[in-house]
Amino acid sequence: MDHFKYKNGTYFCEDISIEDIVSRFHTPCYVYSESTLEAHCKRFLTAFSKYPSTLCSFAVKANNNLSILKKIFSLGFGADVVSIGEIKKAILAGVDAEKIVFSGASKTKQEIDEAIQLGIRQFNVESDFELAYIAGVASMHKKDVAVSFRVNPNIDAHTHPKITTGLAGSKFGIDEPDVYKLASEYKDHPYLKIQGISCHIGSQMKDLSPIRDTAKRMVGLYQDLKSQGVPLSSIDLGGGVGILYKDEKVFSLEEYADCIIEELKDSGATLILEPGRVIVGNSGILVAQVVGIKQKRDRSFVMLDAGMNDLVRPAMYGSYHKIVPVAEPICSCGHTGDCNCDPGCKCGCNKNTYSFAGPICESSDIFASDIPFSDLKAEDLVAIRGAGAYGMSMASNYNSRPLVAEIMVYKDQIKLIRKRQSLEEMIKDEKECL
Ligand SMILES: Cc1ncc(COP(=O)(O)O)c(C=O)c1O
Repeated sequence: MDHFKYKNGTYFCEDISIEDIVSRFHTPCYVYSESTLEAHCKRFLTAFSKYPSTLCSFAVKANNNLSILKKIFSLGFGADVVSIGEIKKAILAGVDAEKIVFSGASKTKQEIDEAIQLGIRQFNVESDFELAYIAGVASMHKKDVAVSFRVNPNIDAHTHPKITTGLAGSKFGIDEPDVYKLASEYKDHPYLKIQGISCHIGSQMKDLSPIRDTAKRMVGLYQDLKSQGVPLSSIDLGGGVGILYKDEKVFSLEEYADCIIEELKDSGATLILEPGRVIVGNSGILVAQVVGIKQKRDRSFVMLDAGMNDLVRPAMYGSYHKIVPVAEPICSCGHTGDCNCDPGCKCGCNKNTYSFAGPICESSDIFASDIPFSDLKAEDLVAIRGAGAYGMSMASNYNSRPLVAEIMVYKDQIKLIRKRQSLEEMIKDEKECL
């Protein structure tokens, strides 16, 4: 569900037309629907409200815009973070430090020290040396510090290899035998409080079976460790819920919650979750303008002003993002909105086969290859859907391109939530060193 749709022949975010937004803020720009974001947050919280004790910690890496974080935290979410930068942004956006879970594969001593000073809820520990650092800092400050072991359960998430994190060969997590060893070594430490076990097996999961298997495995481990005198009280199952980018079949949030609750219901553990994509993914689009159409042999390239530096997922993971024209295509077959006509359809609404490319000097700077599409010309606008997660948060200045603007819409209100970076802002740190 989202609030992006055609009205009166043009694409809208809630009650504001994308054309209006572009006339004020130009392209490329990210546009978010606050009502969509709010609906996703509430649906997630409601799905887990049946479980006696749950902390839903939004994975800040998915989208770290302060206004978006503020909205999510105001609805009751905590934060799952992977750097001290994310901790500070989350606190600035209003999250209570007690609701911050610090994941991250290679936390530095400085990050650990600062996070302890800030009073976060727990470290999801990824290695023996990280645990030793934390124990050292906790002892130095004579301060209790809560940790959870990030377990690598060696379960295949059945998703893209680059976002699979729970297999034994991956860099993430601690293998189960080492979890037992570390737990017995540190369980009587005066300041280290081993309060949980955690995991995250992958992202964009569309199948419940690895989630069920992981939950089962984690409950078994939890009970086993408790029986050995490790005073655990929480199980963190990470994030990973898939969303609809195309026409995938994905379980519903209610099915996801029921599956997890079924496995955990007799454990007595507090449940921690770290959803990212499912909260923000379909709340945002990237709007781009057509610079021109380039005909090359048998291919037509729609050259856009947005590139892989603005949205890297297609180049990085070969990800699919649906692209729609901002001006509604005219279809005499009676379709409205996203027209499903074949390229060969007689009415001709989707008569072109276009590849959408950006301006970056990389062959991978392609948003979509050879897709059926209505007529486009220079200066037309397109919306790249499903860009709210891992879009702006992964953007860069590659090719010396300033970061784009972000706009949030709520009903008929428009709010700029990130100013477009100027060239001067982009180069100032280097200029000062000249
Ligand atoms: C430790 C951890 N938790 C949560 C997430 C969020 O995952 P998703 O956006 O798929 O829900 C990630 C994503 O990479 C992660 O690494």
